[in-house]
Amino acid sequence: MAKRVVSGQRPTGRLHLGHYFGTLKNWVRLQDEYECLFFVADWHALTTKYDDVAGISDDTREMVMDWLAIGLDPKKCFIYKQSDIPEVAELYVYLTMITPISWLERNPTYKEMLREMEGKDIQTAGFLNYPVLQTADIILPRGELVPVGEDQLPHLELGREIVRRFNYLYGDYFAEPQALLSPVKRLLGIDGRKMSKSYGNAIYLSDTPDVIRQKVNQMVTDPARMKKTDVGNTEACMVVFPTHQAYTSADDLVEIEGKCREAAWGCMDCKRELADRIVESLADFREKRYQLEKEPGVVDEVLREGLHQVRPICRATIKDVREKLNLYEEPKGMKGHEAI
Ligand code: TRP
Repeated sequence: MAKRVVSGQRPTGRLHLGHYFGTLKNWVRLQDEYECLFFVADWHALTTKYDDVAGISDDTREMVMDWLAIGLDPKKCFIYKQSDIPEVAELYVYLTMITPISWLERNPTYKEMLREMEGKDIQTAGFLNYPVLQTADIILPRGELVPVGEDQLPHLELGREIVRRFNYLYGDYFAEPQALLSPVKRLLGIDGRKMSKSYGNAIYLSDTPDVIRQKVNQMVTDPARMKKTDVGNTEACMVVFPTHQAYTSADDLVEIEGKCREAAWGCMDCKRELADRIVESLADFREKRYQLEKEPGVVDEVLREGLHQVRPICRATIKDVREKLNLYEEPKGMKGHEAI
């Protein structure tokens, strides 16, 4: 039997190329090899956006449309929304009871996020507990493998410690989830910083070909190359050449590098080539997304179907967990908490 993979993404609205190379490209591949559960981590979005909730449901729809258009196939994987599964919250409650605060406070990912979010008040219990909720996401449907980037490893390690503690206190039950470290390509934004919605430097999957071309034209190249006749240096090229590396075969890269170093072409030519490749790579995506936008019911149907498949697994886990915690006593005259 194929192992079970669980992974989530916070709803940030339309996705960009950074999301594609960081997460989605792997997910699309994994759905052919494993039993995959992919969910919208909308409760996790609240850990930082608790004061800005107006967009969460639209952001969810936009993101799921991007997932489907890029190639996640609901026939091959389960797609659902975290907040549709109340058992996630229930397991989260139990896990918070056994997680020492010191484990959470020393978590490097937590400390880094606090630094990154400077100026935003996220000194909340919910934010500190981010990895506890993430652990509930993973172990509730009995996830075995978690595809994560290296920055998320401390969260997962913490999850494994929580699982060990649960098993120690209540008897062996959960398997420790393992990281599935996938080849991740960090993509730079058009200004050379990490590609991010909040920096305004992202190329979105759903950008039109014209917008993609405009954005590629703004990308930073080798600052020392002033004129087309100056020879270029691909190592000093800040964004265009590194992005070519994500889109271009090794042979073509050698050719592109040669043309740059010999000043056989200018940065504008190189950018035109890159824009062509990006636009071309998204041709199928554009077509599928266009269809999905015309049929908004599809997203709801996919989420409903995913929920339908995943929730029974979650309920079974919670039933066992309640028994382990001695909570499972049926009130008289009732048929158990599921039936209420
Ligand atoms: N923390 C992940 C992120 O920032 C999202 C996430 C929430 C997740 N729960 C998860 C990822 C469970 C993997 C498994 O992208």
